[in-house]
Amino acid sequence: MTDKLIIFDTTLRDGEQSPGASMTKEEKLRIARQLERLRVDVIEAGFAASSNGDFEAVKAIADTIKDCTVCSLARANERDITRAAEALKGAQRARIHTFIATSPLHMEKKLRMTPDQVYEQARAAVRLARNLCPDVEFSPEDGYRSEIDFLCRVLEAVIEEGATTINIPDTVGYAIPELYGEFIRTLRERIPNSDKAIWSVHCHNDLGMAVANSLAGVKIGGARQVECTINGLGERAGNCALEEVVMAVKTRRDYFGLEVGIDTTQIVPASRLVSQTTGFVVQPNKAVVGANAFAHASGIHQDGVLKARDTYEIMRAEDVGWSANKIVLGKLSGRNAFKQRLQELGIVMESESELNAAFAKFKELADRKAEIFDEDIIALVSDESVTP
Ligand code: KIV
Ligand code: ZN
Repeated sequence: MTDKLIIFDTTLRDGEQSPGASMTKEEKLRIARQLERLRVDVIEAGFAASSNGDFEAVKAIADTIKDCTVCSLARANERDITRAAEALKGAQRARIHTFIATSPLHMEKKLRMTPDQVYEQARAAVRLARNLCPDVEFSPEDGYRSEIDFLCRVLEAVIEEGATTINIPDTVGYAIPELYGEFIRTLRERIPNSDKAIWSVHCHNDLGMAVANSLAGVKIGGARQVECTINGLGERAGNCALEEVVMAVKTRRDYFGLEVGIDTTQIVPASRLVSQTTGFVVQPNKAVVGANAFAHASGIHQDGVLKARDTYEIMRAEDVGWSANKIVLGKLSGRNAFKQRLQELGIVMESESELNAAFAKFKELADRKAEIFDEDIIALVSDESVTP
């Protein structure tokens, strides 16, 4: 039997922490629906205790999404954890993700707490969270820069309290692939009850190694959950990019030997939706989702691809959701072309009447504007009167 790799998407939480990427409840809900179509296993919908707006967004996503676990972040304190549980009440499957920093630097300078205090707080937080929710994830923030004996002590205790997932963040993107992979392996080997939890990786991209570090955490460390974001959106240089990790594991199944439940044809629509919503442009040479990711410009490459696509393509563009031909939308375009473009943008109308209303608006706009761009369509369906 092949192991499954759990894809935990945190676009709506860690991704949103990127300066300038904050999203409204409606925008988050639209992205959550696309993440559901993408079939991610877990959607981290936000940080319920951080603001009323985020509480409402987590709640709306928990009440709407049926096929993914919906998760809220919570600091390791009573207020945050109860607020997360409240926001998640309507979820089919809920997860509380609680965290506290464990590195000497963060404990001393940021938290101003002793290691013993952090240990007790982590333990109490997981105990409380487990009383409210059967699925609890614990993260030692800045885990990768933590002292290993202390980290083992904390993690053994939180597993004893019932944490079902243990996530090891490389919060500041300091890790090197082999070292990070070995770090996770050592933790799993040294902690006596480590096999009672699923191990997870959470890597930031400050040195451009978030994807490589995550994959090493999986291959060397034995982690079975990867935390990632669409387009690698995230604070500073971003997080591990979902599309890269998923396509690496799929394309090199011979090496990883793991299954992912993702519908890869929804990757490009998800990428576009996140980019259009946040205004963060995807660089043309970005792996998988960049405009040039499947473009062949040189004569030798074009000739090779025309003879046999495998000569210069390790993945198929259509397998990740690129459509072969781009139809220009204007006043002569029909309802089907409009509907198809909505799908490519990751927007699926929930009913025929919604689609009709959006199409009528599109026609009105097309009478005034020669060519309708993707941005126009996003703006048009963002109007409350046509979106769910
Ligand atoms: O990077 C980090 O440490 C985090 C944790 C809250 C999981 O995002
Ligand atoms: Zn993070």
